[in-house]
Amino acid sequence: MADLNIKIGSLNLKNPVMTASGTFGYGEEFADFMDISQIGGIIVKGTTLNPREGNPYPRMAETPSGMLNAVGLQNKGVHYFVNSIYPGLKDINTNIIVNVSGSCIDDYVQTAEIINELEHIPAIELNISCPNVKQGGMAFGVTAKGAAEVVKQVRAAYKKTLIVKLSPNVTDVTEIARAVEEQGADSVSLINTLLGMAIDAETRRPLLSTITGGLSGPAVKPIALRMVWQVYNSVKIPVVGLGGIMNWKDAVEFMLAGATAIQIGTANFIDPITTQRVSEGINDYLDRKGYKSVSEIIGALEV
Ligand SMILES: Cc1cc2nc3c(=O)[nH]c(=O)nc-3n(C[C@H](O)[C@H](O)[C@H](O)COP(=O)(O)O)c2cc1C
Repeated sequence: MADLNIKIGSLNLKNPVMTASGTFGYGEEFADFMDISQIGGIIVKGTTLNPREGNPYPRMAETPSGMLNAVGLQNKGVHYFVNSIYPGLKDINTNIIVNVSGSCIDDYVQTAEIINELEHIPAIELNISCPNVKQGGMAFGVTAKGAAEVVKQVRAAYKKTLIVKLSPNVTDVTEIARAVEEQGADSVSLINTLLGMAIDAETRRPLLSTITGGLSGPAVKPIALRMVWQVYNSVKIPVVGLGGIMNWKDAVEFMLAGATAIQIGTANFIDPITTQRVSEGINDYLDRKGYKSVSEIIGALEV
């Protein structure tokens, strides 16, 4: 059995496999199907300062090798999380990481400050793909300046491990990664969903109420892999890779491209125990290849 332990900032993971935000609820919903303490980390769904109803239905659509979603960060807000969800999560023996989302910088900062006080939450993942309502609705994470500003202010307010989740809807993802590293991010995770669209020719209507939405699943994997590799070669902080990972082989490919850890998103909708299978598969691969530790394969791509 190889050593699967991984470190990101001051976060210790028992294995490099986490669940992606928005695809695994708060984790506890799956406790009847599997031993959730075997997951390296559970990234809970996008949490905002105030409750959000999300977008009107339909907000999910199936596409070839992927899916589109426009859930719109439906959640009951950070105070509800603290009072009603956190008490049920704090004794689970894995890392519970909160995905912090916001519509202006103050929202992000206040949410991060509140989460900072929770003893059993060792890290946040900052979702900078949200639209900035105070600046015309353009996402924070699509310019280096916008990304740097939100990370700078959250960094000042949040003392534990700060993972910044990057948007792929940009021209040069390495520029954004460097900008958030400069502002003190402990790690970057990528990719969030790619902006896409689906149309029903018969009805001439879009399949999503919002017309456009976020594409995820196997369709995005080659793009995610390319971006992880580019970012790995551009920053010194650990990179967390995700986007279309369906099995252990996909996960190993992301680690070879430079990911220190990986996340499983859309695959959870097909089989919620994918994370467990992926960490077992990574372990078998390491044993078969004679590696003693999973850290030996990070960035070990032969070019
Ligand atoms: C239904 C759904 C909800 C999501 N909600 C969030 C969210 O709240 N915050 C976030 O940062 N990413 C969210 N994502 C993006 C995923 O965490 C992930 O970045 C993306 O789906 C790519 O990974 P995958 O191909 O493995 O699903 C969501 C994705 C889906 C499919």
